[in-house]
Amino acid sequence: MKKIIIINGPNLNLLGKREPNIYGSLSFTEFFNTVKEKYTNVDLEYFQSNIEGELIDKLQACGFNYDGIILNAAAYTHTSVGIGDTVKAIETPVVEVHISNTFGREEFRHQSFISPNAKGVILGFGLQSYELAIQSFLD
Ligand code: DQA
Repeated sequence: MKKIIIINGPNLNLLGKREPNIYGSLSFTEFFNTVKEKYTNVDLEYFQSNIEGELIDKLQACGFNYDGIILNAAAYTHTSVGIGDTVKAIETPVVEVHISNTFGREEFRHQSFISPNAKGVILGFGLQSYELAIQSFLD
């Protein structure tokens, strides 16, 4: 069974309450539970932190023994050289995910320190972006 983890960055614990016009009205826990039920053939975990160093620690801890990492580093995507370096340093392939189409938003969201070392990038499909990322590891 493939071992995959979804790692979410800052403010994504507020999904469902935060700017629902952009991020939707479903909480991540609700979404994650339906996905877990759907993909019973995957060992799927979830981690969220608002703290940059905790995200780096988690990437390092999973980065040599998981089959896939789905990373939405949220605002740190656009600022964190540290997280970008970690994605480069680890062996597990990372698929970068965003709920919104960051290229249709402010210019500062067009920059990503993750993308150059990601296996691929999926964005703009709402929470379905995560599901597409799971499927990319199964095909
Ligand atoms: C986001 C896009 C980021 O620009 C933003 O800072 C987020 C969420 C997304 O999933 O659309 O917090 O990563």
